[in-house]
Amino acid sequence: MAELLRQRGVASASAPDSLAGSVEVWTIQGEARRNTLNRALVAELIAAVHSAESDRSLRCVVLTGQGDKAFCAGADLKERAGMSVADVQVWLDDLRRMTTGLERSRVPFIAALNGSAFGGGTELALSCDLRVAVDTSELALTEVTLAIIPGAGGTQRLPRLVGLGRAAELILTGRRVPAAEALQIGLVNRLARPGQALAEALKLAEAIAANGPVAIAAAKAALQLGSSLPLDAGLDLERRQYERTLPTADRLEGIAAFREKRKPVYRGE
Ligand code: COA
Repeated sequence: MAELLRQRGVASASAPDSLAGSVEVWTIQGEARRNTLNRALVAELIAAVHSAESDRSLRCVVLTGQGDKAFCAGADLKERAGMSVADVQVWLDDLRRMTTGLERSRVPFIAALNGSAFGGGTELALSCDLRVAVDTSELALTEVTLAIIPGAGGTQRLPRLVGLGRAAELILTGRRVPAAEALQIGLVNRLARPGQALAEALKLAEAIAANGPVAIAAAKAALQLGSSLPLDAGLDLERRQYERTLPTADRLEGIAAFREKRKPVYRGE
């Protein structure tokens, strides 16, 4: 059975000491079934996202999978086989809680696709803020090939990321998209060599973690919540989020560090 391993203190070779412990790596450990999502794992992810929210020392999370075949091969179809229609309704509610939790979290999440992502695996990656994928991986929303549809936000998040036409093609055909194409259409942010997705994602995580934590949370909220709003409402949201940074000591530290030609040290307050 897959479970979630949470590790603090994993860092890239170039990470400055000042960021020690500010990034966490979450690894789905279920290689034998290609890190598929089952009920217990989804519950674990929901709880982990909830607890990350109140951990002020945590500035970024990298979410990855065990092994080199799959980041996550979607819903565990073996578990699904034993589910009633009522069970599936509960499952869909839980998937929504998980994906919305990631998206709305104060903490930025980076999906490090150590291998392919299908169905709910791609939807899990879509609810993260950024995606890094090994260049041998594929991504797909394969659900229609199983006579269902994406149930963890794929029909809503994919078009927001890559446009309606591309999303329609991918969702209606279920086609597996090679990583290079995923990069070209903006479905992933960066490619990595096999075995290097986590290392690449850590570099991004550390770049994020070095910035003002209140600013990162505000920028994330403006991006994630604003993308579904009309422009004027989005601009109002941006203004409210900007104002969160105004009373912070970090804002003054940013200006002082610029004046003194040194790196700022942000404390999240
Ligand atoms: N649910 C349950 N078990 C799964 C699974 C899933 N979604 N995906 C893979 N597995 C299991 C396989 O049944 C196999 O188990 P077994 O050893 O008991 O037969 C094991 O994981 C390894 O899978 P296998 O296909 O042999 O590995 P692979 O490395 O050759 O291929 C994938 C990996 C991910 C490409 C392939 O397993 C796959 O296409 N899976 C289905 C993905 C999918 O369509 N998901 C959408 C669900 S909505």
